Amino acid sequence: MAHNGKHALITGSSRGIGRGIALKLAERGVRVAINYRKNEAAAKDTLAKVRQAGSDGFTVQADVCRAEDIARMVGRAKQEFGTLDIFVSNARPDVPEFYQGPMSITMGQWDTAMNSQAKAFLLAVREVCPLMGDDGRIIAITYAPGGRTGSWQPWVGMGAAKVAMESLCRYFAVALAKRGITVNAISPGWIEDSVLNTLPDAAQDMIRTWHQGGWTPMGRLGTPADIGNAVSLLCSEEAGWITGQVIAVDGGSSLMDPGLPLEIQRG
Ligand SMILES: NC(=O)c1ccc[n+]([C@@H]2O[C@H](COP(=O)([O-])OP(=O)(O)OC[C@H]3O[C@@H](n4cnc5c(N)ncnc54)[C@H](OP(=O)(O)O)[C@@H]3O)[C@@H](O)[C@H]2O)c1
Repeated sequence: MAHNGKHALITGSSRGIGRGIALKLAERGVRVAINYRKNEAAAKDTLAKVRQAGSDGFTVQADVCRAEDIARMVGRAKQEFGTLDIFVSNARPDVPEFYQGPMSITMGQWDTAMNSQAKAFLLAVREVCPLMGDDGRIIAITYAPGGRTGSWQPWVGMGAAKVAMESLCRYFAVALAKRGITVNAISPGWIEDSVLNTLPDAAQDMIRTWHQGGWTPMGRLGTPADIGNAVSLLCSEEAGWITGQVIAVDGGSSLMDPGLPLEIQRG
């Protein structure tokens, strides 16, 4: 599936899932704007890999929590590319910046979660739309279980922020439908080479064992490339009638029922 000649802006693409998306799009002929906040070396490494994949692009520092940074980042894309075909809102601050339960989360942590997701998405979509042709693709990377459930207490800020971002996808989908621009969210399952690898080793092991043991029917965690492939699919011409959806890309983990023991579910 080729997207030759297209241009993409991907927030938080210096590492993790964002890098996987940048590399998959680059393999398919897309030139990519690689946004990072503080890890310039990682962003440059992503750009080098984009070039190895036969494409090109540039790196751009911007904190998506700041409106003026978003405007500057999109302005740079306009200067470098002239147009944008694909915008992926993927950046998420490091866990300590928002990770606190509902009874103790600080207003600073709450604002970091909300500003980096819902507000950043609202502002960025309004900035990128004037650069998009009439078949643009806007994709938000969410984590739907964090908003649907209430058990992972310190995820309250990010869970609420992702729900607001998913809601914005639906409103923007209608607002932009007449132009043929689609707006969707992808909800990855647990992914290797991402924030997962910043967790204590014991927690990582428990998560891998859990999913390999059956809570992900496909028996493995995902990879950044899996999410890059899903983004690429949504960027295809054939996906032009899909809009306003939250699409789970998780090897089936969202199909499992926490109310039943695994042994009964697997039959
Ligand atoms: N990892 C998973 O298993 C998983 C599962 C479901 C959903 N997701 C979602 O997937 C997305 C990526 O997650 P990840 O685990 O791949 O992330 P990650 O490895 O922690 O990387 C985060 C990226 O976001 C950038 N960033 C952080 N704060 C920023 C800010 N204020 N402004 C601009 N960029 C900022 C970082 O830039 P620097 O390198 O400069 O710090 C980095 O490129 C997130 O939206 C997350 O919620 C992840």
